[in-house]
Order: sequence, then structure tokens, then C-alpha cells
Amino acid sequence: MRFITGLAFVLLVTGQAFAQKSLLPALVQKNGHYSLIVDGKPFFVLGGQVHNSSAWPKMMPAVWRSAAILKLNTLEIPIYWEQMEPQSGKFDFSFVNTLLQQSRQHRVKLVLLWFGTWKNGSNHYMPEWMKRDAARYPNITDKNGQPVDSPSPHANATLRADIKAFKALMSYLAQTDQQHQVIMVQVENESGSWGSVRDYSPEAQKLFAGPVPGKLLEPGLLRALNVPLVTAGTWMEVFGDRADEYFQAWYTASFIGQVAAAGKSVYPLPLYTNAALRDPLTNPTANNYESGGPTDNVIPIWKATAPALDLVAPDIYLSGSERILKVLDLYNRPENALFVPELGLSEERAKYLFEVIARGGIGFSPFGIDDNGTVETAAQTAKRLAPFAMEYATLEPLINMLARQATEGKISSVVEHDDHADQTINLGSWQLILKFGGDGRANAAPLYTPEATGKLLVVKLGDNKFMLIGSRCHVTFKPNGNNAGRAWQYLKVEEGAYSHGDFKATRILNGDETDWGGPGFSDKPTILQVSLVVR
Ligand code: DGJ
Repeated sequence: MRFITGLAFVLLVTGQAFAQKSLLPALVQKNGHYSLIVDGKPFFVLGGQVHNSSAWPKMMPAVWRSAAILKLNTLEIPIYWEQMEPQSGKFDFSFVNTLLQQSRQHRVKLVLLWFGTWKNGSNHYMPEWMKRDAARYPNITDKNGQPVDSPSPHANATLRADIKAFKALMSYLAQTDQQHQVIMVQVENESGSWGSVRDYSPEAQKLFAGPVPGKLLEPGLLRALNVPLVTAGTWMEVFGDRADEYFQAWYTASFIGQVAAAGKSVYPLPLYTNAALRDPLTNPTANNYESGGPTDNVIPIWKATAPALDLVAPDIYLSGSERILKVLDLYNRPENALFVPELGLSEERAKYLFEVIARGGIGFSPFGIDDNGTVETAAQTAKRLAPFAMEYATLEPLINMLARQATEGKISSVVEHDDHADQTINLGSWQLILKFGGDGRANAAPLYTPEATGKLLVVKLGDNKFMLIGSRCHVTFKPNGNNAGRAWQYLKVEEGAYSHGDFKATRILNGDETDWGGPGFSDKPTILQVSLVVR
């Protein structure tokens, strides 16, 4: 029998404790790039979110069936406050426990969505005992004194209750989720208010007439908000016609920031909250969108008042390439990692996965992957999920490698814009010219689809070697930079797939498949490894 000495025992124990801690999921920033670290390695969320009423045991078989068809690596699923705390202070974690067990069996990670005080600007997931006590857990009041279907961010009792419940959830995870199935938690869902830009209750009016909190007057923050620098003033004096919205944003962010901080104090997982977007191109006023949530114009306010949130994230239901690309840029900032936790499950939106990867984002997840209690056959589910499932199937074996390469600046991508115009990618000594549409044959005439689904992701593997992943486009290489004007040819164009981290060629493309200016990509996402030679 071998004995462990006292010192060795201490080392063993502390070593184990360290291993547990080091395996905690974390969002890290290095050289200006973010990585989501899961099980000690960079990880990209190839996700899928369930419908709002699908987080119930009876619904889970259909959820897992969709998850398998989609080949996701992470399931996003709500935890309902009304289900978890049916009586004040009495917590029921049985569903959380079911989820943890099933996610281990299915080898799928989880992002839990805390449907607490806010769900799409309303309080509909508050437990019954809270809904019955509107005086203690009030909603907001509009300008005319009318009640609005949205919780008040000034309600202290609501804040205390939410903190208690969220902390209980995070403590339960800290105690039971030894394998770190849960990699991130979303705090609330699309907070803010519809129907009134802010609360006009007497209590809120008093705060609004008072001085703006000092933290919000810091010069860096005022500059970020495009507001003249001042050292004191009321909301109206400092923010003018944006005062109502900024007031609502400050108090909503402060509330959710406190909930997040309380959860993090017991279990420091990455936390985020999501935004119902406003039009990113026209700077509309807050009566046109959900006021106070982390829309692009108030991200600086959220960052200042809710530091326990690792990031704020856009839910993309907008359409149009210009709008969507603008949203990705607005949420991909030095102080904010890009994560798309929801996006409408439609064919034309699948291509933005490439843009999120290329920007060094940490994940992407369409909404409503399960059949929501309808009787969908597996074939119908597969058809519905196909645009995303095809991408996931192609990318899954190499996604974490791509996530790492993106942080090294090796990835570029383009997606077909609504006008189907040609685009170029500058790769230093090579330029890539892209035409969209087509049926995959190199010499095919463009055949545009209204959904504009063409896309290409390029990984620079060496000066003259690139990996291309794309569909519905045609590419031509052109010598550029120090190669400009030189004669060249394709050395080898290989089509293949990734397996266990290595590219395995299935064939070499040549002749008709490359001679007409370069290779073409069909509907089916395809991986090519292209080597070139200058002569
Ligand atoms: C955005 C919300 O965050 C989701 O929970 C869901 O309500 C979708 N909108 C739309 O169905």
C-alpha cells in the first residue's frame, strides 16, 4: 500500500481544487480578442434556443431531437422564475437537475436563460405570489398615469426577490454542476419597456427631477454618449431629449447588474443579457423600440452600471444585410465580446454565422429549434432546420479551431448583400474576387436567390495557402501586393472535410471545376484547401 505524505496530500488537494477552478467556463480577453474558454479550451457556441414554453420535462424529447438534427454543441434554454420558486423562498430545482443530467447524456453544453423580472419587457415569468401583490412588486406607470405591462426598475422588493432567486439558482449550479455543463447564464430576457419610455410613478418622478448619479457623469461615458461634458445636473439638463430613455436604461441596467453581481458572487460563470434591437441605421427615438434595454445607443450606460455582466448581446430579428452587419459591428467592441444568443430561424440569416466567427465572436444561436408541441415529423424538423444544420455539420469538427484562428486575425469572411454585388477580400499578397449566386459550377451564370445566401469564410494558412468554406459563390484569386502583376496558377485545389482536427481531402478539383477563373461553391457548404504558386 502506498502512503501519501502530508505535503503530497496538500498538493493533491490544492491541485484538484485548482483543476476544478481552472475548468470553470470563462470569458477571457487577450491582445484585444475575446475567447470563451470551456473545459480549458477556446469554444464557440454553435447554439440553438428552444421556444419559450419548451423548458418542461415532457417537452425535452422533442428538444433533444431537434438539437441532434441541428448538431448544436450548446442548448439555450430558459429557467422560469414561476417554475423555480412557486412559493416565496421555496425553491424547486428539479427541472435544473433534469437538464443537467440530460445535457451530460447528450454531451451538449447549456446556456441557461434566467426568465426573472423581465421577459420581453414584461413581468410575465414572475411567480404567482408576486403577480398577486402588485403593490409590493409594481409595474411602471406611463405619462398619463396609466399602468404599463412592464416591471418597475425602481422596485426594491422586486430587486431583493430577484437577487434571492438568482443567487439560489447559481448556488445550486455551483454545488451540482461539477462537469460544467452550464457554460453561461443569461440574466433576464430582453429587458426594458414597451408602451412607455420610462416610469412616471411619483417615486420615479422624484428620482428623475434629482441629480444624475456621479458615475454617469464621468467624462469618458459622456463622450461615448455624445453628450457635452458637465459635472452636475438633472437628467433633463444633462441629457435633453434622450433623458427619459437614459434614465430608464440606467435604472434597468443597475437592477440587472445587481442581480448578476449577486449570482456571480456565489458562482462566477460568464453572464450576459440580451437586447431587443432598435434600427441600427436611423437613430430612432425610444418610443419606437423597447426602452432601457441594452440597445446599441446605451451600451456605454450598461457597461458603466452593470460590470458583473460580461457582455450585452443582440437578438437579431431584423432583416437586410446592411442592418444586420451594422448590428454585428455595434456589438463587437473592445469592451464587449460579440455573441448572438438569438436570431430568427430563417434561411437568409444562417450566413451571418460566418461573420460572427470572422469577427472573433463567441457564439451564434437561432431561436425556436424545437417543434413547440406541434406534431412535426423528424423529416419536417430536418427541413425546417436545414439552412443552419448544413452549416453546423460542416463547421462543427473545426469550430473551436476557427475560434482560435479568429483571435489570431487569420480569418476573413463575406456574405452576399441584398444587392448581390461582387465583393473582394484583401489577403495581402492575394486578392479574392467573389461573385454570388450560381449553382456551384465554376462557369455557371449567376442565379441569385432572393434570400441572398452566398457566403465565404477564408482562413489564411500560409502566404500562398488558404482554406475556403463557402456556399453559393464563385471565387477568383488575383495576385496582389508584392505578387501584383506576376504570373501564377493554382498549385492544388482540394475539396474535403475536417476530422479530429485534420483536413482530409476527398478529391482534387481541376479542369472545369477551377479553370473558369477559380472554384465555385454550390448550395451545400463546402471546404476547399487552396494552394497557389507564382511563376
Ligand atoms: C425574442 C425573445 O427574446 C424570445 O424569448 C422570443 O420571445 C422571441 N423574441 C420571439 O418569438
